[in-house]
Amino acid sequence: MQENGREQWGTRVGFIFAAVGSAVGLGNLWRFPHLTGSNGGAAFLIIYLIIIALIGITIMLSELAIGRATQLNAVGAFKKLSKKWTFVGVMGVIAGFVILSYYSVIGGWSIGYMVRSLTGVFSGDTAELFGSFVSNTWEPLIWHAVFMGLTIGIVYNGIKGGIERASKIMIPALFIMLIIIIVRSLTLPGAAEGVAFYLKPDFSKVTGGTIMAALGQAFFSLSLGMGCMVTYGSYLSKKENLVSSSAIIPISDTLAAFLAGLAILPAVFAFGFDPSSGPGLMFITLPAVFAQMPLGTFFGFLFFVLVTIAALTSAISLLEVCSAYVIDEWKWSRKKTTLLMGLVIFLLGIPSSLSQGAVNINLFGMDFLSFMDYISNNVLLTLGGMFICIFVGWIWGVNNAKKEITNDGTIKFGLFGVWSILVKFVAPIAIFILFLNSIGVFSF
Ligand code: PHE
Repeated sequence: MQENGREQWGTRVGFIFAAVGSAVGLGNLWRFPHLTGSNGGAAFLIIYLIIIALIGITIMLSELAIGRATQLNAVGAFKKLSKKWTFVGVMGVIAGFVILSYYSVIGGWSIGYMVRSLTGVFSGDTAELFGSFVSNTWEPLIWHAVFMGLTIGIVYNGIKGGIERASKIMIPALFIMLIIIIVRSLTLPGAAEGVAFYLKPDFSKVTGGTIMAALGQAFFSLSLGMGCMVTYGSYLSKKENLVSSSAIIPISDTLAAFLAGLAILPAVFAFGFDPSSGPGLMFITLPAVFAQMPLGTFFGFLFFVLVTIAALTSAISLLEVCSAYVIDEWKWSRKKTTLLMGLVIFLLGIPSSLSQGAVNINLFGMDFLSFMDYISNNVLLTLGGMFICIFVGWIWGVNNAKKEITNDGTIKFGLFGVWSILVKFVAPIAIFILFLNSIGVFSF
């Protein structure tokens, strides 16, 4: 299936799996559970759901429409619709580059933990264990190289033969593993307390900061604000239904995040650990939980296989954003592009890896990895999302977008009026407030 000689997804299901694969990642398994754990459990969950429904789906649809309308990479897409707005695509490619560099380091930790879990080394002080693992010079770097190598290997084989084929296997496997772990977690004595925490909202813990955390999480988790969905949308045929896709992807992603919380929080409670232990929840608290659990070695291994797969299907989308740009705009071959881009991104990840204890690399009071994470999430994705809304709402215009979304009027888009208001006013204003808050102009 080729239109204008450009590669396309083989099937609609294949595209959905790939897009869900991009969305479901460390954001769901690592970030969401610990954010929920430290932001009032169910109260956070409810706020998160509202944000996904109002802002997440709105931007998802906008990005897919831009991609499919132009059939181009993020930079080319904005350039084609309005030259002045090319910078939004450029910001996206930079974000993909920066995010993948440290995402691959964490993906590498996950492979390392997967291997370690087999030898049952998660006993004793797991915080100390994690500290000594990441502060090692070579071991994390080697896993980072392995993770990046796998990512390159998939993207190298193209849209249909690489990304789509890998996602069609990995995404169903991921949901099955998640369900097995949930059953284990929920059948532990004492799990009920964790379920109650997760499902009974405590609104006294909600502050402005909670809402901001939920909004930031929504962007990262749905792969929005950096042209990722523009790029994936550009490989869609003109017959595909964008309206339903833009609902299915966020719903699946949110389901995965919800299930990840259900897999993790009850187990954390059952063994008396603190659900608000922060980012260390996945690499420190969970291994301690697995160490005490019957059949813990097996479930620990399964869990880190799951994390690795989830991270990998997101990493390929990050590499594809950068590669599509080089392939379309510089006319390089896909093979040369993925190898060279992958190598450069690997190199950029080295300081992130080393900054976790091996070498002291600080920028603005943050270690290098945290700095990269901060810049991409709080600046690039947030501003990117805002510009995409303004662009679609006011520059390209909701009516042009509508033409693309409805396949020239052949598909129903009953919520057009609501979407227009969200994309023109509600989303950009809400995001702008998030941005000012996140860079510390004011705080709630
Ligand atoms: N959505 C991915 C996750 O939740 C991360 C990601 C962000 C991927 C932006 C692509 C683009 O882990």
